[in-house]
Amino acid sequence: MMLHFGEVFVHLVPIILDARGQCPTQCRCPSSYVANCASLALSKVPTDRFGRHVQNLDISDKVLVSLDETSLRDIGVVSLVQVNASRNLINDIHEEAFLGQSKLQAVDLSSNSLTYIEPKAFMRNPSLERLSLSNNKLLTLPEGGPFLYSKSLRVLELSNCDLSHIPPDTFQKLPNLQELQISHNKIGMLYNVQGVEHLTALDVSHNYLRGLDSDIFTASPKLIHLNLSFNKLSALNVTMMPQLAKAISTADLSGNPWVCDCVMFNTVYAWCRNKSVDLGLVCSSPPKFKDKPWTVYENAGCDDGENTDFADLVETVTIVDGNLSLRSHDNYAQQTMPDSVPIPMQGQQVTSNLNYFHISIGLVAVLLCLLTAAGVVWYRLRSLTLRRTGPACSDVEMCHLSSNNT
Ligand SMILES: *[C@@H]1O[C@H](CO)[C@@H](O)[C@H](O)[C@H]1NC(C)=O
Ligand SMILES: *[C@@H]1O[C@H](CO)[C@@H](O)[C@H](O)[C@H]1NC(C)=O
Ligand SMILES: *[C@@H]1O[C@H](CO)[C@@H](O)[C@H](O)[C@H]1NC(C)=O
Ligand SMILES: *[C@@H]1O[C@H](CO)[C@@H](O)[C@H](O)[C@H]1NC(C)=O
Ligand SMILES: *[C@@H]1O[C@H](CO)[C@@H](O)[C@H](O)[C@H]1NC(C)=O
Repeated sequence: MMLHFGEVFVHLVPIILDARGQCPTQCRCPSSYVANCASLALSKVPTDRFGRHVQNLDISDKVLVSLDETSLRDIGVVSLVQVNASRNLINDIHEEAFLGQSKLQAVDLSSNSLTYIEPKAFMRNPSLERLSLSNNKLLTLPEGGPFLYSKSLRVLELSNCDLSHIPPDTFQKLPNLQELQISHNKIGMLYNVQGVEHLTALDVSHNYLRGLDSDIFTASPKLIHLNLSFNKLSALNVTMMPQLAKAISTADLSGNPWVCDCVMFNTVYAWCRNKSVDLGLVCSSPPKFKDKPWTVYENAGCDDGENTDFADLVETVTIVDGNLSLRSHDNYAQQTMPDSVPIPMQGQQVTSNLNYFHISIGLVAVLLCLLTAAGVVWYRLRSLTLRRTGPACSDVEMCHLSSNNT
């Protein structure tokens, strides 16, 4: 019963204070807990004091140009739970901007002009769980040091920040980080990201990823939601399949230029078929599989197109007027390679390569003949000249002696 009285008391106090009416004139305060000052086109945080019990402060949309160490203290808000300061022109976050806000749980700083955040700015906000920094295109992550210190932060949004890589120590001091959104950036490689062992959800969609390093699974063994859509991934390494398969019910691998070649067929596809897992990949090459789901392997088998090495399958190759004609070994299936295939491009190429070879040999021969002829002519001319001027010298020393004598 005592507990109940306590609760009632806590809820009553703000109502009594609210009756005194502490809400800046420019803001709307539907209750003592909420102050909505969005879109007021102010130049800084309203200077009027807010009620002490404001928990949910909306100062988004062209309200603020700065958030320095005294901004929030100056307006008397001491028990903030949520702050929305998105769509402002804030450049940097001072180390003490959120000092003393021990109940602060969620901060939205998206769509600002942030270039730098003091890494310890949220270190003394023990309740902080969510931080959005998305759409800050000038933001830089420190090289060789943590980006932020927070023991409690659970969700971090860094989408649309023009990031091109994630330095290894970036998330090292965020031991409770569970959800990381880094979509719509320019990240080409995601490796060596340390200190994210509690990460369960990672959104890297719309980046420039060309490869996926298995380090990401080693660093984040609990990863179960993985969005890799709209990157430049063309192949997967079969060694990471067991880990990738754990996330597969929620993994999004769409919008990548998957190469459905025989390597993929013999490794990743074989693994998946064996385990009845479908990654749902859509092929972008070879051309005949373009835009088809990779299950096309099931009927068509694999085909490396031009890269196929026919050398040990084929006995004779003849080219007649641009038609490549193959005579295959008996055990090489007829239906996969018809005897005569019209491939004008390749046929001509082979023919012209042969022509180049012959022409080169001819040219070398002509050159050799010319050199020999020149040598003979030179020798004749020399001996003629020597016969006119004096005795030919058999070696340099003798000539030297004879010229000294004269
Ligand atoms: C913050 O405000 C903006 C617009 O003013 C809104 O779009 C956004 O959803 C708000 N953020 C949160 C976390 O409520
Ligand atoms: C992955 O991200 C894309 C684009 O960012 C989104 O459309 C899609 O719904 C996400 N997939 C999952 C499974 O959440
Ligand atoms: C696949 O991953 C393993 C272990 O990470 C690595 O040793 C191997 O070189 C990779 N293979 C390819 C083709 O990248
Ligand atoms: C398929 O699984 C079986 C047993 O589960 C295993 O013996 C076999 O090597 C697997 N084949 C491939 C291609 O992974
Ligand atoms: C080359 O192949 C085409 C199509 O198969 C055929 O019509 C043509 O007669 C062939 N030409 C020669 C010289 O064999």
